[in-house]
Amino acid sequence: MNFALLLFITIISAKTLPPDIVRCRKSDPNACLDVHVMEAVRKFAAGNKDLGIVPLEPLFIERVEFAAPGSGSVSLHQVYRNAYLHGITSATITDSEANFDDGDCYWRYNSFTPAIRLEADYTMKGRLLLFPINGQGRCNNTFYEIDGRNEFKCEKYVKKDKTHLRMVEHKFRIQPKRVVFDYNNIIGGNEEFNKEVLKTVNENALTVYADVGPALEEVMSRIWLQSINEVFSRVPEDELFLP
Ligand SMILES: *[C@@H]1O[C@H](CO)[C@@H](O)[C@H](O)[C@H]1NC(C)=O
Repeated sequence: MNFALLLFITIISAKTLPPDIVRCRKSDPNACLDVHVMEAVRKFAAGNKDLGIVPLEPLFIERVEFAAPGSGSVSLHQVYRNAYLHGITSATITDSEANFDDGDCYWRYNSFTPAIRLEADYTMKGRLLLFPINGQGRCNNTFYEIDGRNEFKCEKYVKKDKTHLRMVEHKFRIQPKRVVFDYNNIIGGNEEFNKEVLKTVNENALTVYADVGPALEEVMSRIWLQSINEVFSRVPEDELFLP
């Protein structure tokens, strides 16, 4: 109806990256992504409303629920509420292999994070090692020296005459070298027995992690994918990259 109004809407809806964010060359992105993606993430640690990025340090997660498949050492139903993840912005990225062309759009890389800490209200029911668990309380779990593997697939779409990227799949695996679990009241009841159980859990921390970890991977993956797509939906492809 009104050309001036339409133009105005277009201008306010498409965003650009802040000027202090280094953009990579689309034709040769790999080494640049290794250095500058996490640098950008650290600049966005407190969040960025304009780009739709929630605060990342710490990262708040309202609720995550996880039922283990019921095999191995763990058969558990876990719910974490009011969770704060500390440390995700301290990751470094290496070995990026990326291609943002039509048809074969991907970004794969390895990551390393010195430490991630999860503080939350938790409930946990089931069996852990040999113990029947019926815990409820606070947890404060720390994961150290975490190697990660990320594989994104992406696609393109056109919005208001601009080409945008969208991540459509994220395969994400992490493996810490060391884990310290701190669940208070893990079996319910007797304080001394709780301490003994927690001690045994920590003596077998990497075994326990194999079944507890997927909940952490899932929630981190979901948030990473969501954050990237919030930015991509606002900033067109030609603003994300140098040619
Ligand atoms: C959680 O654990 C970390 C590392 O062990 C410790 O520094 C921190 O004080 C703990 N926080 C709480 C609330 O217990």
